Amino acid sequence: MASPRLILPEGRLSPLARLNRYLKSSAFAQSRFFIFVDEHTYSHCLSQTVAQVESLQDAEFIEFPVGEEFKSAEVAIQVWQSLMESGADRQSVVVNLGGGCVSDVGAFVASTYMRGLRYVNIPTTLIGMVDAAIGGKTALNLAGVKNVVGTFHMPSAVCVEPSFLTSLPEADVRAGCVELLKTLVVGGAIDEMPSTGWKRLLTVDNISTALRIKASVVSRDPFDRDVRHILNFGHTFGHAIESYSLAQQRPLAHGFAVGVGMLCALYLSVRKLGLSQRHYDCFHSWISELMPLPHFSLRDAESILQLMHHDKKNADGNLLCVLLQDMGAPAVDVPVDDMEVRDALLAAVK
Ligand SMILES: NC(=O)c1ccc[n+]([C@@H]2O[C@H](COP(=O)([O-])OP(=O)(O)OC[C@H]3O[C@@H](n4cnc5c(N)ncnc54)[C@H](O)[C@@H]3O)[C@@H](O)[C@H]2O)c1
Ligand SMILES: [Zn+2]
Repeated sequence: MASPRLILPEGRLSPLARLNRYLKSSAFAQSRFFIFVDEHTYSHCLSQTVAQVESLQDAEFIEFPVGEEFKSAEVAIQVWQSLMESGADRQSVVVNLGGGCVSDVGAFVASTYMRGLRYVNIPTTLIGMVDAAIGGKTALNLAGVKNVVGTFHMPSAVCVEPSFLTSLPEADVRAGCVELLKTLVVGGAIDEMPSTGWKRLLTVDNISTALRIKASVVSRDPFDRDVRHILNFGHTFGHAIESYSLAQQRPLAHGFAVGVGMLCALYLSVRKLGLSQRHYDCFHSWISELMPLPHFSLRDAESILQLMHHDKKNADGNLLCVLLQDMGAPAVDVPVDDMEVRDALLAAVK
């Protein structure tokens, strides 16, 4: 799969102005454009985009309902129908203008309509910029199970305009910061971390660095068979914590669940792989500044452990986790036994 063109904030021209140039190239001479938005990106991001990208001035836009519960087959069917009614053909190009929910469904629709249309991602959330918009994984949820339906289909380009973050609610910025931190740490782009001030993490440079790290890992393993697993740091614990919080009717945003998951993974990294305690302590202060940390009882820990076993296990019944030997030195498939999981859940998050 060809890697996407990355249009990042650098140089004199804005990313949208450079997207404008890119879409004027002969590769798109025959193309009609369809912009996918949700209600929030329609009101906060569409006019700025259309004003700067001439090729999109005559584009049709299709509005998705907001949120995770609409990453569904029903919505995908509606969007296929809208494309068909508008006469979209194989030359048509989809532009996903939104966060991870818009790009997951939009990319899925693009990958399946007429056996695959080209598409461009313009992420408007921090999670979109550092994670969801890059990597070619498309996704729908089914029967309450996240991302169970999907395809691999690379975007032609990803255009990151950081000014879109100014209207993003702070909780979404904080949740995105956790994923930003994850990628910077796994990719070795952070060594020393100041103990406070999470907003210092949120720089245009860090966003671009995280995006490049992810793009480079994906280019080495586009189908997520081996190397790409390092990006799951914090996610074996995180997914189970997210599901558990949903079942308890106290839903924790994905980014926050991953923040707790990273703390657990770091706690085990200190004990099993000799990561320095100082790194764990730094993380602990960052994560606890970014979000209120939950407190797990023994019963909570047991339920989360069971959910983790649903997700992944090796032949001996151990869980396999991504841990860190050092900043930028992840180790994949480290076996972790049930005692260690319980210990991490009870002791790491305090
Ligand atoms: N495909 C992948 O590789 C991948 C990776 C990470 C996450 N994801 C998926 O991404 C989703 C989470 O991403 P998300 O947090 O971006 O979700 P989202 O798209 O639901 O966006 C979060 C909220 O912010 C609003 N919003 C978006 N941009 C805005 C802006 N500029 N100003 C104001 N409001 C804005 C949205 O309407 C929504 O209410 C999950 O479904 C997750 O599974 C996918
Ligand atoms: Zn994640």
